[in-house]
Amino acid sequence: MDFELTDEQRMIRDMAREFASEVLAPQAALIDETEEYPFETLKQMGELGLMGIDVPEEYGGIGADTISYVLAVEEVSKACAATGAIMSVQNSLVCYGLVHYGTEEQKEKYLRPAASFEKIGAFGLSEPQAGSDAANQRTMALRQGDEYIVNGSKNFITNGGVADFVVLFVRTDPTQRHKGISCLLVDTDTPGFSHGKPEKKLGIRASNTTTLTLEDCHIPVANRLGEEGEGFKIAMDVLDAGRIGIGAQALGIAQAAFEASVKYAQEREQFGQPISRFQAIQWMIADMATRIEAARLLLFQAALKKDRGERYTREAAMAKLYASETAMWAATKAIQVHGGYGYMKEYPVERYFRDAKITEIYEGTSEVQRLVIAHHELK
Ligand code: CAA
Repeated sequence: MDFELTDEQRMIRDMAREFASEVLAPQAALIDETEEYPFETLKQMGELGLMGIDVPEEYGGIGADTISYVLAVEEVSKACAATGAIMSVQNSLVCYGLVHYGTEEQKEKYLRPAASFEKIGAFGLSEPQAGSDAANQRTMALRQGDEYIVNGSKNFITNGGVADFVVLFVRTDPTQRHKGISCLLVDTDTPGFSHGKPEKKLGIRASNTTTLTLEDCHIPVANRLGEEGEGFKIAMDVLDAGRIGIGAQALGIAQAAFEASVKYAQEREQFGQPISRFQAIQWMIADMATRIEAARLLLFQAALKKDRGERYTREAAMAKLYASETAMWAATKAIQVHGGYGYMKEYPVERYFRDAKITEIYEGTSEVQRLVIAHHELK
């Protein structure tokens, strides 16, 4: 395995790094406080190609590989994890599914504008009773001629209140479990479609999360992504890609917590010397660096397998599991290194701590990732 980045990978990382440090980092604490969705910076990211990184150039993306995607999401999330969440959803949960399952018409109507963030997408899978048990979908789609009539509700939907369209999972056959699920592209201006108020969250507060309600929404059959009954497999396939994105988001948060700890440990003096001279601090720094490097390598491995066209479900689950638990652990240690100051909003580590937690929950909890890994090890 070659650990050297290619020129293109380095270029995309540097572009994301520059944008993150110049544009995202200065506003991250403010939008965390105000919970303001950063439309303008997201649009700029769309113009730079950061919302369609592995979308083919013919559909308006930059056609780069998944390692480039990991590098870019890490850089963005290091500066602003809320922006990293939106970026990951748009790239993986929205664009990836359209690239792989969309018809030419769907690609023109949805993928091309999504890759440049002219259209914002959302991924409507979770329902009140269908969290980890994603196959327990109750949103119903009854076929009438060349339309589906959709009724139901979704919750915890990233971009729910700002999206132009939703990649929506619905039950088209109540007699089947996962084989009765289909996927529809639903424009949010469809009569009968509405969303709830933005949720008040612990972290990634500038990202928009709402419920969705569909009451007698008429959706053309031409808006079905994939075949009828294929929806659950599409959701799982898309989530494999998504888990690499969330792993990269977690990696960015962990790296930010690490860098803040190194800086603080070298500046802060106690007992007449910088606290970095104490072994208690050195061990935390060493463990952070080691775990972050391991998370990065797991992510690169999953990304490489994906780009080779091999099944990477297990590797994506491992990378997401390890990176998210590393982010939470590193953010906890970062507060410890900062002592009382780490608990205050004056320093960014309390934000990293709050932002890290969601990475262990969304796109499959750590328990779901362990389930997926165990399934592959025990078959
Ligand atoms: N790729 C392709 N097919 C897959 C697959 C994958 N990764 N995983 C499973 N399948 C297939 C199986 O092969 C099986 O197919 P057959 O019937 O043909 O054999 C079928 O799907 C059903 O598989 P399971 O029996 O394993 O399904 P299950 O009901 O036991 O569920 C699960 C498995 C892993 C727990 C799954 O439900 C899951 O991933 N749950 C977590 C849901 C989740 O991640 N939600 C995230 C919401 S989106 C979000 O958070 C976005 C956001 O806003 C940021």
